[in-house]
Formats: sequence, structure tokens, C-alpha cells
Amino acid sequence: MAATFVDIQYAANLLRRGEVVAFPTETVYGLGADAFNAQAIERVYELKGRPRHNPLIVHVSGPEMARRVVREWSDAAAALSRRFWPGPLSILVPRSRELPEIVTAGSDLVAVRCPNHPVTLALLFELNRPLVGPSANLSGHVSPTDAQHVREAFADRGVQVLDGGACEAGIESTVVDVTSDPPRVLRPGIISAAQIAEVLGRPVAETSGDQPVGGPLHSPGLLDRHYCPRAAAYVFDENEWPDVRRIAAGRGDMVILSHRLLRAEPGLRVIELPPDAAGYAAILYAALRDADRAGASTILIERPPTGRATDEDPLWMAITDRLSRAAIRLPDDWADGAATSRPIT
Ligand code: TXA
Ligand code: MG
Repeated sequence: MAATFVDIQYAANLLRRGEVVAFPTETVYGLGADAFNAQAIERVYELKGRPRHNPLIVHVSGPEMARRVVREWSDAAAALSRRFWPGPLSILVPRSRELPEIVTAGSDLVAVRCPNHPVTLALLFELNRPLVGPSANLSGHVSPTDAQHVREAFADRGVQVLDGGACEAGIESTVVDVTSDPPRVLRPGIISAAQIAEVLGRPVAETSGDQPVGGPLHSPGLLDRHYCPRAAAYVFDENEWPDVRRIAAGRGDMVILSHRLLRAEPGLRVIELPPDAAGYAAILYAALRDADRAGASTILIERPPTGRATDEDPLWMAITDRLSRAAIRLPDDWADGAATSRPIT
């Protein structure tokens, strides 16, 4: 049931006492703690099993609150926040010395974002303090896009979950570093590099996970193998479809995720995803979880369309980025029956 104002006040009190509360955003659910309480943040890392070198995003109610955690709010940061907040854009800026080091895992930069969700905006205003919020999943697993996903991972660890319903966007925020020259997108998302470049009036670089960034700044979320379902996940291309259909037929443990190629056929277990990028992103993580829940040992994912010069292309690229961390390509000998080989997790 959706959180009421009483739930929000209760959550704010828990956070004031240094407890951890999960909150909804338009992208995915976050595991929240007071950004100035190092002990509470320790517990976030511990609950997630998150490596200590992977910094956390700080959630704020707007630019004014952002200024409390940053040393310098540049014109670029101001322009981007005006245009895209509240919304799915995390902006990397120099951090305030007051902010506990554990938030940024020792980095001199902090990622700040104002989430576009009424429940969490109300929480931030009520609390009047910034909140760290990594995605509310165990480290390396699929991000949660509804309250039940969070409860499955953390309810028995005593974490309260503010229920804000299903997340609309469904994939994590774009992370952009505005301190580098040129500014650089470290994690692709709903807001594209082109949209950011338009606001900044200058080109913006993009980092793909395959090309590690030079210099000290590195976004550990770009590491390979992330967002993983329990089952072995593979991406297949259109020309592999006849093989996939033949091999998966009658195999109850093989689940196919398709947005285009397929009609439900007897003997195939298919989860149909919407053919548009926004609809696809919104339910992709839930679909991966559904496949796990259905007992799949193997998830076969039809490759999303990219490289077409359409408005949807940047979002398909962001989706492909997530899939490339959740899945591997089919091995060449797959059609010869080698489908039991598992990707390295
Ligand atoms: O949409 C989102 O961003 C969600 C919701 C809850 O806001 N949060 C989220 O947090 O996805 P997390 O911790 O799962 O991913 C944060 C990403 C990681 O790739 C992390 O390495 C990067 O942002 N990041 C955070 N702070 C950073 C910093 N100071 N420097 C470089 N990368 C940073
Ligand atoms: Mg995450």
C-alpha cells in the first residue's frame, strides 16, 4: 500500500535515529541513510554487501540542499539541476569537507541527485537532510523497481520500506561528471549525453564500461557483471532466433525475454516486453526477477535495437549497457547443445 504522510514522518524519525529506510524513486528504489551519519552509512554498505570502494549517490530535495554537501556548485551543475531536477540525473561535483568520507569512498567528488518521486521528495523535505541512496538490492544483483523487490532482499534485516508503487523509469539515473573537461557521462541512463550537451552548450563525452576512464575518477558501477539475475542470462541476435526457438522448445527452465520477434508459441516460455524503449526500461528488471522466480536456469534475451538514428536510441543504448552487465553473448557453439555453460558471475 502506498506510503501515507504518517509513514513518511515515521520514516523520517527512523532516519534521524540513524536507521536505514528504503525509499522509492522514479528510477529504482534506494537504500537510504542520513548522509551525515557515518555509522548509518556503514550499515548501508554492510546490508548491501557493497565493496567499500564504490561511492554512494546523495539524494537532495533540490539545489539548495545540494549545496550543503558540495564545495562548489558550478554554473554547469546549476544549469543541469534547473533543467533536469527533480529527475534521473546524478551530477558529480566537488564534495564538501563536512560530508563523511565513506559517502564518496574517499573520492573528492560527490554525486548528487534530486529524485522525482512525491513520497521521497516529501521525505526529504520532512527530514530536511540529504540521504545517501544506493539501489536497494544486494550488491551485484538486479535493482528493485517495486517495494516488494526490496522487502524480498531486506525485510528480515529490519529495513523499513516506504512503498511508492512501481518505479516509472525502471533503470538507474544517468551519472555525469561536470568537473572533467569535457564533461563526461559515466553511467548512461534516461537523460542522454546529447540532452546534457545541449544544456551545457558544449560536447559531452560518454564512457562505456568497455573503455575504462583514465585518471583517478572511476565509477565502479561501470564494472562488468552487475545487475545480475540468478539464472545465467544470454543476449541473442535476430539471426540466432531459429536456434533459440529450436533449443528452448519444451525446456521449462529456459525463459525468453522478447520485445519483438515472438508471438507466444506452444512449448516456449516467453516474457513479452514492450517494443518501445521507455516501456521496456520500466519493466526490464521486474522481468528478470520474474524469470528467476519462474525457476529459470537460463534467460535468453533478444538484443534490443540500437544504432538507429531515432529519438529512442540513447535509451536503447542505456538498456543495452545494463544488459551487457547482466548477460553475456551466446557462445558460438550454443546451437550445438552447449547451452549449459554458465557465464562467470
Ligand atoms: O537512479 C539511481 O541513481 C538510484 C536511485 C536510488 O537514486 N541509485 C543508484 O545508486 O543507482 P547505486 O549506488 O546503485 O549506483 C550509483 C552509481 C555507481 O555506479 C557509483 O559507482 C556511481 O554512481 N557513483 C556514485 N558516487 C560517485 C562518485 N563520487 N564518483 C564516481 N562515481 C560515483
Ligand atoms: Mg546499484
